[in-house]
Amino acid sequence: MSNIEQTLSIIKPDAVERNLEGQIKEIFIRNGFRIIEEKKIQINKSEAEKFYKVHETKPFYNELCNYLSSGPIVVMKLEKENAIFENRELMGSTNPKDAKEGTIRKKFGLSIDKNSVHGSDSLENANIELDFFFKT
Ligand code: CDP
Ligand code: MG
Repeated sequence: MSNIEQTLSIIKPDAVERNLEGQIKEIFIRNGFRIIEEKKIQINKSEAEKFYKVHETKPFYNELCNYLSSGPIVVMKLEKENAIFENRELMGSTNPKDAKEGTIRKKFGLSIDKNSVHGSDSLENANIELDFFFKT
């Protein structure tokens, strides 16, 4: 049975700043993802805090929200068979040092915090995160 899903991908400030937007999109397309909607935006700190609310008790929360709001990001609605899992696989581990060869974070990530991309981690969070950026 087919299981076409949509997931949220973000090209984070470190990658936009290094002009990696085109190369990262090319990797998604080469791996069978369709970019259904996309926009380049900059969010403010309180929007970043809302987006990352699941992490509010973590020691890195404040820095994470400063970082996500520090410069332009590209948010994309991606679609593919099993898109949520497939995107997590293609991104690689949170820490680029642990990410497998061929993953986006291995190729472009600078550090555990500046790891170039975000991807929804579950169907529930994909729907919440897509609504956050694309709800009309
Ligand atoms: O992004 P991912 O789902 O792989 O990781 P997460 O555990 O949900 O953490 C969200 C984001 O917080 C990461 O992508 C990092 O940018 C950041 N983070 C950090 O700065 N320091 C950590 N020790 C863990 C995560
Ligand atoms: Mg996460």
